[in-house]
Amino acid sequence: MQSLTDKVVLITGAGSGIGRATALKMARAGATVVAADIVVDTGEDTVQSIRADGKHATFVRCDVGDSDDVRRLLNIIVDRYGRLDCAFNNAGIAETQYSPGDHGFSEDNWHRIIRTNLTGTWLCLKYEIQQMLQQRAGTIVNMSSIVGLVGEAGETGAYSASKHGIIGLTKTIALTYAKQGIRVNAICPGGAETPKLTQLASDPDTSRLVDAFVAQTPMQRLAQPEEIADAVIWLCSDHATYVTGHTLVVDGGYLAQ
Ligand SMILES: NC(=O)c1ccc[n+]([C@@H]2O[C@H](COP(=O)([O-])OP(=O)(O)OC[C@H]3O[C@@H](n4cnc5c(N)ncnc54)[C@H](O)[C@@H]3O)[C@@H](O)[C@H]2O)c1
Repeated sequence: MQSLTDKVVLITGAGSGIGRATALKMARAGATVVAADIVVDTGEDTVQSIRADGKHATFVRCDVGDSDDVRRLLNIIVDRYGRLDCAFNNAGIAETQYSPGDHGFSEDNWHRIIRTNLTGTWLCLKYEIQQMLQQRAGTIVNMSSIVGLVGEAGETGAYSASKHGIIGLTKTIALTYAKQGIRVNAICPGGAETPKLTQLASDPDTSRLVDAFVAQTPMQRLAQPEEIADAVIWLCSDHATYVTGHTLVVDGGYLAQ
C-alpha cells in the first residue's frame, strides 16, 4: 500500500462516493483526515468509520461554493494540525433534471453546477495554496471527469464546462506554484459505482443510460470508488514527486477509443 504516514489531508465531498472511499483509504495509508462535506450526517459517518478503524479524522461542515466556509475550513485545519499536506478537491454535483422545453438551458442549473464544481474548486485552491506557500510544500488533486476532456451529447454543458474548467485551472495553478514545491494535478474518472450511479442504474427510466455507458467502456464495467481513490493517493504520495500539471484519466479505457 502507498504510504501517507503523518500527512494531514483534506477531502471535500467526503460524505459519499469517491470522496468517502478516498477518505477511508487515505486514513488506512496513515494520513490524518479532514473530511469536509455540505451534508453533516454523511460527513460525520465517514469520520466515525475512520475512527472505528483506529485512525484519525475530523469532520468540518463546508459548502465549497461559499468563500467564508472554505476560509473557515482551512483555519480549522491549520489551528488543529498546523499544516495541510494534501488536498483532494472532490466535491461536485451533476444534475440531469431539466424542465420540459428548456433543452438543458436552465440558467438555475448552470449557476448551481458552476458554483459548486468550478467556483468551489477555485475557492479551495485559493485557501489551500495560501497555506502551502507558507510551508513551501503540498500536493493537490482536483476532481474533473472524462467529460472534462470531451463533450457529451444530450447534457446541459454546464457539468462538462465545469470539468473542462477544472483542468485549465489545474494546469495554470500547477505552473504558477511549481517553483514553490506545490504539485497540482487533476483526475478524470469514467463511470464510478457511487450511490448516485447505482440509483440511476436501478431506475427503469435511466438504467438504459448506465447500461449503454458500460457497454461503451472497453472494460465493460464501472469503476469501484476505491479504484479512483488509489489513483488520487498515488498523485498525493511521494511516489509522484515529479508529477504536476497532469490530467490522469482513470476510465477503463473509455477515452482510448
Ligand atoms: N461517480 C462518477 O461516475 C464520477 C465520474 C467522474 C467524476 N465524478 C466526480 O467525482 C466527484 C464525486 O462524485 P461522486 O460520484 O462520488 O458523488 P456523490 O454525490 O456520491 O458525492 C459527492 C459529495 O459531495 C458533497 N457535496 C455536494 N455539494 C457540495 C458542496 N457545495 N460543498 C461540499 N460538499 C458538497 C455531497 O454532499 C456528497 O457527499 C464529483 O466532483 C463528480 O463530478 C464522478
